[in-house]
Amino acid sequence: MSKEKFAGVKGMNDMLPADATIWQTVQQTAVGVLERYGYQEIRTPILENTKVFTRGVGEVTDIVEKEMYSFTDSMNGDQLTLRPECTSAVVRSVNEHNLLYGATQRLWYMGPMFRHERPQRGRYRQFHQLGAEALGMEGPEIDAEMIIMLARIWKELGVGDVHLELNTLGALTERQAHREALIRYFEGNQDILDEDAKRRLYTNPLRILDTKNPEMQDLVNAAPRLLDFLGDDSRQFLDRMESIVSAAGINYVINPRLVRGLDYYNHTVFEWITDKLGAQGTICGGGRYDPLIEMLGGRPAPGVGFAMGMERVIELMRECGNVPQKAQTDVYVLHHGGETQVKAMLLAEAMRDLGVRVMVHPNKGSIKSQMKKADASGACFAVFATEDELASGTVSVKALREGATVYAEQTTVALDQAADAIAKALSFRAE
Ligand code: HAM
Repeated sequence: MSKEKFAGVKGMNDMLPADATIWQTVQQTAVGVLERYGYQEIRTPILENTKVFTRGVGEVTDIVEKEMYSFTDSMNGDQLTLRPECTSAVVRSVNEHNLLYGATQRLWYMGPMFRHERPQRGRYRQFHQLGAEALGMEGPEIDAEMIIMLARIWKELGVGDVHLELNTLGALTERQAHREALIRYFEGNQDILDEDAKRRLYTNPLRILDTKNPEMQDLVNAAPRLLDFLGDDSRQFLDRMESIVSAAGINYVINPRLVRGLDYYNHTVFEWITDKLGAQGTICGGGRYDPLIEMLGGRPAPGVGFAMGMERVIELMRECGNVPQKAQTDVYVLHHGGETQVKAMLLAEAMRDLGVRVMVHPNKGSIKSQMKKADASGACFAVFATEDELASGTVSVKALREGATVYAEQTTVALDQAADAIAKALSFRAE
């Protein structure tokens, strides 16, 4: 038999148990905040019909042109895509189930997304987004509320080192006027454009502003700004949103070059960025996408949302030294096998009834080797359900951690009172 050891797919990571606590902390903290604003969970499948994304995200975007995992279902010929983002999928679902008829929706989601990008620190081919979409609300108050909510999430996660960039993409007619001005401007500077920019000149000139090419920076810095093409309504929308964000004490900068990589946005766009993660410092992006619901076949309704990259937020937590620790168990039960193991298992059940996390040593072993496992488990208490103890109707309990002070050393407890006593000891610790 060959002894081939397999590796995971490039750019797709395992989340190992050692990282579980930090993942759970980030999700629970963020969802705890989202719930305080009335958001409810939605789950959509990982696969969608490819058109959901080509229509939603836009044909001339990096995601659709280069990064989607698309394939033909060999069973029926359907064109399917592993979701590169979730906003289009959520809108597809909301339209399909008529969730916006006479209603608004505040929805959140968490799950894997797939983009065939060049993997590097903070950029993966499978990554996770925790995002939210507020549907059927015109804003700009809801846009501002979303930003205030995100500031609260960063605060509760203890990641202070993030700053906010805001921009507006205005309304369609304003974008069209700006687009024509951009094309004229770039046409007059053809010699400075790189291949990517030339290709985009007539399809998506806005994205040229997003270039990372150092030789084009002066050119894009001096390019016509959408801000100068805004009509009164768009200006007022931006002003109102800015004034609420400022009133909430949130610092931001207006970045006129912030255009985002997806085509569905209008008015507000934003990103939260940190300097602590190198090149992939954007931990969260979002904005308003009023055209999208109709583009995906629904009755016209506005929407605004965001998604944060879980891997990046978690990396930032680590950079900030904010790594929560959680022991695997509260109590570890040792025994002598045979009937003592059965009694140990039943005692563990009684403790679990009271909410205690308990591990029973899984098989035989010397008490010394079992103690090593008990120590390694991080438990506060070891419980000895040995032959001698059980013969006298007791177990003994030993504190393994500083702080588990109720049993300073080793104490003997009646078997039928042990579960209560230990649960009580642990609740003192929690206070
Ligand atoms: P996005 O800017 O494409 O927006 O992605 C949002 C966040 O996902 C990014 O800021 C980043 O933190 C994370 N992310 C993106 N690509 C990768 C990758 N390859 N590896 C690791 N993390 C990544 C959207 O996806 C929109 N759907 C957000 C939105 C929701 N807009 C409105 N509603």
